[in-house]
Amino acid sequence: MDVSTELAGIRLNNPTVLASGVLGVTASALKRASASGAAAVITKSIGPQKRRGHENPVVVELDCGLLNAIGLSCPDPEESMGELKKAVDSVDAPVIASFYGKSISEYGYMAELLSKAEPAFLEANISCPNVREFGKPFGSSAKTAGKITRAVKNATDLPLIVKLTPNVVDIKAIALEVEKNGADVISAINTLGPGMKIDVVSGRPVLSNKFGGLSGPCIKPVAVRCVYDIYDVVEIPVIGVGGIESGEDAVEMLMAGASAVGIGTAVWHRGVDVFREVTDELRDFMKEQGYSRLEEIIGRAHG
Ligand SMILES: Cc1cc2nc3c(=O)[nH]c(=O)nc-3n(C[C@H](O)[C@H](O)[C@H](O)COP(=O)(O)O)c2cc1C
Repeated sequence: MDVSTELAGIRLNNPTVLASGVLGVTASALKRASASGAAAVITKSIGPQKRRGHENPVVVELDCGLLNAIGLSCPDPEESMGELKKAVDSVDAPVIASFYGKSISEYGYMAELLSKAEPAFLEANISCPNVREFGKPFGSSAKTAGKITRAVKNATDLPLIVKLTPNVVDIKAIALEVEKNGADVISAINTLGPGMKIDVVSGRPVLSNKFGGLSGPCIKPVAVRCVYDIYDVVEIPVIGVGGIESGEDAVEMLMAGASAVGIGTAVWHRGVDVFREVTDELRDFMKEQGYSRLEEIIGRAHG
């Protein structure tokens, strides 16, 4: 049974990838995810300045997933670079450096800086929804998404993943613009929303930021539809992210057109072994259904 897959010429021994922001701040956490079966690991998004992020509470658990507004907290870039270098040296799987900027030129600057640590890929997070001073996510305009992609490509020789937001009217137009400007892979989706949870006893919003991005099982149908739409219009591979908690969830995402699946919230629900478990469940499904290679599943829903 062959569950290996490929992203822009880089072979992954299974399709599970640690999604950005979950376990991705330190080299040791990334190492743990890889030792637990993740075929590639993505760092928490790294920014150009140290940021405290929002006050607690920043995450609230719901029946159907999580609502979070971390506020892009991150250490200063030197510390992030130190952890990234450590991760590249010690993790036995491709390390993907996720990053953001507050302007197009800052995306270029960050790409140049992070490339010095020689990760396998860069992932431009153009989709973070929970930081008011940033205004609308850059990824909600096709034109801006294209400009950021171009600026990053001009600043690095590394393969580039661009991570899209689902909170747009036409994700196909954005995917096309990102591909046209040089993205090697698209990752979809970041959190859905914003959403809100109110504590009915205190009568106050639970999150200090009031609003947050939704993740976990409740967003899977949206993620599957976004990946399906993107696969329809682009040639580059897609990492499907959003609500993947089991082997069957992974199959659904692969059938929509993903070449690999990102897993975030499920690490909270099933623990870090979720990567190995999802891969085992995927293998069991393939055996039962008579598939021998992942290529037979990828994009199957398109007929
Ligand atoms: C606590 C938390 C922090 C996150 N931080 C980031 C981040 O720093 N950068 C990013 O691109 N996505 C971030 N995400 C989004 C996830 O990478 C993923 O796109 C989203 O949660 C959907 O996948 P899931 O349902 O498997 O969690 C974060 C998600 C959560 C729950």
